[in-house]
Amino acid sequence: MGQNRIYVDNSATTPVSRESLAAMLPYFTECFGNPSAVYSYGREAKKALEDSRQAIAGLIGALNSEIFFTSGGTEGDNWILQSVCEQYAHKGRHIVSSKIEHSAVLRTLERLERRGFEVTLLEPDRAGMIHPDMLEKALRDDTILVSIMAANNVVGTLLPVKELCAAAHKRKILFHTDAVQALCHIPLDARSLGVDFLTFSAHKFHGPKGAGALYARVPLAPLPLISGGGQEKNRRSGTENVAAIAGMAAALEEELRGLAANIEKTRALRDKLIAAVVKLPGAFLTGDPEMRLPGLASFVFEDVEGQELVVKLDGEGVCASSGSACSSGSVEPSPVLSAMGYGNKLARGALRISLSRYNTEAEIDYIIEKLPGILEKLRAERRG
Ligand SMILES: Cc1ncc(COP(=O)(O)O)c(C=O)c1O
Repeated sequence: MGQNRIYVDNSATTPVSRESLAAMLPYFTECFGNPSAVYSYGREAKKALEDSRQAIAGLIGALNSEIFFTSGGTEGDNWILQSVCEQYAHKGRHIVSSKIEHSAVLRTLERLERRGFEVTLLEPDRAGMIHPDMLEKALRDDTILVSIMAANNVVGTLLPVKELCAAAHKRKILFHTDAVQALCHIPLDARSLGVDFLTFSAHKFHGPKGAGALYARVPLAPLPLISGGGQEKNRRSGTENVAAIAGMAAALEEELRGLAANIEKTRALRDKLIAAVVKLPGAFLTGDPEMRLPGLASFVFEDVEGQELVVKLDGEGVCASSGSACSSGSVEPSPVLSAMGYGNKLARGALRISLSRYNTEAEIDYIIEKLPGILEKLRAERRG
């Protein structure tokens, strides 16, 4: 990483890869056309758009017509939850999701509740896991949609999406998964998962920010989100972000090409870090010890404020995350950890280290070397 800084917050965002950048550059300059234009510049841009759609569809086990480009994960989550509720309100007004979802899902569900929908949020177990029998118990005759993420962004737990989806489908209920943290981190194929809808975002896998996609299984196309010139088959108007979409396709292709090696590398680094950190006094691993993202290590520390820990790590050149939401000066513990049963005191001392293939063993060794001293210092400061 540049300027001797160590970047271990890849769940927040990732640097754009050289391949992705190279794929984007022509569409800012010589191939700048509007894909809707009929002359050669437009046709070139249109071809880039449709080639990207085809590549992305092929890579995630979808048809071209099942891919709708978005600005990222937040938009995809908002779009599909609202669309399904509007489309199927005549069948029922109950939705099942979980307490560990990203705010893009949770805040949208709150808005839907204000519009008269009823939401059941499943409680995870202590490992952040949602089991199919928990879901089965919550399903009702008026349930129209289940939305459960593929991988949690705070603790890295991998959810059994295929089994959860099967439980919903047994009752003929539609299933959406937020795969923002999962795609390019674990093998993932929309068709074999069986899901009806899936959302993802390019900046989580070394593509650009502001590009993502919604997969909607044929024939379940979403209702129009933005009206205007009729782009994305009349469902999301506005001139397409051609460069970013080309960059997303290139990043996806590159990451999936190297997936097995990347998983092996990040898992080894993660496990080295976890093994060292859990030996420290008052340190605990959060999330499922086995079923977790290969590159994500998350902890809670007794008698430590996560935000202060992140600031101290930053002082040592390490960019990590506490997984706490900081709002108007007050630091609240992550609702995910609270839902998993962690009390306020422990949940406040959270640290998330999320790796990418760019991280090195030397960086992990450096974190392992610095962390004990930082924790000691923070606790000493607390004791006054
Ligand atoms: C699980 C999950 N869903 C959705 C999002 C939002 O994605 P985007 O930043 O592309 O809007 C994120 C981003 O952190 C995420 O982790």
